[in-house]
Amino acid sequence: MIVIDQEQRIFTLHTSHTTYQMQADPYHVLLHAYYGPRVEEDMTYLIRRADRSHTPNPDEAGNRRDYSLDTLPQEYSTCGVGDYRIPSLEVEQADGSHAVDLRYTGYEVRKGKYTLEGLPAFWGQEAETLILFLEDPASHVVAELYYGVFEDVDLITRAVRIVNRGEKPVRLLKAASLCLDLPYAAPLDIITFAGRHMMERCPTRTPLAPGIQGVGTTRGLSSHQNNPFVMLCRPDAGEEHGLCYGAMLLYSGSFEAMAERSQLEDCRLVMGINPYHFSWTLEPGGAFQTPEAAMVCSPSGFGQMSRRFHRAIREHLLRDPYEGRRRPVLVNNWEATTFDFDADKLVEIAQAAAPMGIELLVMDDGWFGDRDDDYRALGDWAVNLRKLPGGLEALVPRIQELGMRFGIWVEPEMISEDSALYRQHPDWALAIPGRAHTRGRSQLVLDFSRQDVRDHIYGALKAVLSSAEITYVKWDANRTLATVWSAQLPSERQGEVYHRYVLGVYDMLERLHQDFPQMLIEGCAGGGGRFDAGMLYYTPQIWCSDNTDAVDRLRIQYGTSFAYPVSAMGAHVSAVPNAGTLRTTPLETRGVVAMAGTFGYEMDLSKTTPEERELMARQVRFFKEHYDLIQRGDYYRLTDPFENGPFTAWEHVSPDRREALASVVTGPVCGNPPFRTLYLRGLDPALRYRVEGGAAYSGAALMEGGYPLPMELLMGDYQSFQLYLKAE
Ligand code: DGJ
Repeated sequence: MIVIDQEQRIFTLHTSHTTYQMQADPYHVLLHAYYGPRVEEDMTYLIRRADRSHTPNPDEAGNRRDYSLDTLPQEYSTCGVGDYRIPSLEVEQADGSHAVDLRYTGYEVRKGKYTLEGLPAFWGQEAETLILFLEDPASHVVAELYYGVFEDVDLITRAVRIVNRGEKPVRLLKAASLCLDLPYAAPLDIITFAGRHMMERCPTRTPLAPGIQGVGTTRGLSSHQNNPFVMLCRPDAGEEHGLCYGAMLLYSGSFEAMAERSQLEDCRLVMGINPYHFSWTLEPGGAFQTPEAAMVCSPSGFGQMSRRFHRAIREHLLRDPYEGRRRPVLVNNWEATTFDFDADKLVEIAQAAAPMGIELLVMDDGWFGDRDDDYRALGDWAVNLRKLPGGLEALVPRIQELGMRFGIWVEPEMISEDSALYRQHPDWALAIPGRAHTRGRSQLVLDFSRQDVRDHIYGALKAVLSSAEITYVKWDANRTLATVWSAQLPSERQGEVYHRYVLGVYDMLERLHQDFPQMLIEGCAGGGGRFDAGMLYYTPQIWCSDNTDAVDRLRIQYGTSFAYPVSAMGAHVSAVPNAGTLRTTPLETRGVVAMAGTFGYEMDLSKTTPEERELMARQVRFFKEHYDLIQRGDYYRLTDPFENGPFTAWEHVSPDRREALASVVTGPVCGNPPFRTLYLRGLDPALRYRVEGGAAYSGAALMEGGYPLPMELLMGDYQSFQLYLKAE
């Protein structure tokens, strides 16, 4: 609900459980008043003024020294006019000055959620939109602040449109999506999600120290190394209690999220496109649209914050072709064969998969051009007829005869120098004239900022995807951007290429979505190198990591779950010893861990034993039986795998709390282990829950007293256990 006090110029956004408030003050400066648990009152008493000295005062304040942009909580911070904290907007004006001063000029309220052309955004007809207009009186640069209010899921979205209403061109050097000043909430800790290839999104918590702390990437993809999701929390906050905030950017390119603890120990968070190599020329009348950011506040710890994001993403972001239906359990041939396969090998895997209940075969990298290894052929999107005689037209019916559907891998953004496409169009790769190439996995990146390049690739992909009944596409990207320059832009606009590249990727994904609305698209970037909410708008699931080791996955999926729901996390059972870690874990455990994601297999099923197949068939049955609970239930992290405790556990609870499934994976065995107890969460204390095939307990007993883990589970490394509970 949006409430506006016109006289006091107070703007209040209420979700069911949170409140966000701003005020345009007498000098028309838009100040932030409050973001936290829901309150019904005027919170502007929290905005405090005092002469702090060495903090400049704007002209209108005259000799009032207690009024400074540098100490007041700003809704969208400016630069060059007296606020020295992190700016949200940096503008190089026509006269070369770097200053912009934003003053409130008006507002608009709209029913339904705003949309952003060419960019991902949360959607919802029941949501509401508030737009606040700010303008720099000197240059007439306008900032339109967009707010989306999703009452049902306690989510507030933000986006900013910068318009040049002046008479001269200006250059944007920074245009953040979100600025959040939280003076009343300090001191705060910041939690970020750093990692690397094969170990993505590991939470790191640090107290905000005086100065600026933050994360970001300049890689052109949202990256394995840092995720465009950050949290701020009170020092006493934890999984189950305490005030915390989460902020995510719906952006798949270079981003930055910076938090500052200023001289007054308050906190400012600014999040948006990374200003590194970013500039955008705005001619008079021109506009620039920032990506969207989304925020959640939880007074009851990280778990509640995550569940709010999960629901918001599932119900207001994903455009899932299987909405209301079940996505298929799949088998992917990558870890089974890498490039060494042909049609018969794929059919052999499918023949083993079909009786287990697996529903989709995904043909990964290696099916096109002369792609026998990863040194060649990217860009040549035509079926390799030596490997697949008769093409997809011949292969797909053979898979369908087994009762399975067919999916395919593509890597559209890339080009190999050893490819027909490169020989024909060497200038289509991003490269700086006169400077040597940088390669990643021996490949170059196509200039997706160019419409002609995109049109060509899209045409080739569309032909392949239309040649047979293909129901799934895995969209991969196996390197990051470097030596970035586009032949189609003049030198003064080269700072636009990184962002135009991301817009190009979104354009391609949107076309795919429009032309093949029933196609399930799985995102991927060398595993989890582009796992962000922007991609989720186009690809409702994303391959979480190239690391399929069940024990490492416990950590990767734990970190990922802070922002993203189970239904977004691509997770497969793979062979042992694991190709990446050489660790051997039981098949049962690999199944339990993959079931905390989209669930599938990635191994040569034709080489498994009858006992293994029998077990896998049971896993698939179990997953399907509990699909709704796992994929659409509320998710609870019961332990933190980074604490190296005796076991890792998590739980799915149905929205009506009548069903729950807890999963446990133990660590390395130790002699004569102590008894271990699993404390459940999210149950109704008053209901009695029956353990499948066992006793019944009250929700209160299971949450307060806990459930004793069976002793057998504590014998052997990395054992697993699932506890299914149903209310009587
Ligand atoms: C990286 C992906 O993460 C893998 O799953 C696989 O698709 C390879 N690329 C193929 O090159």
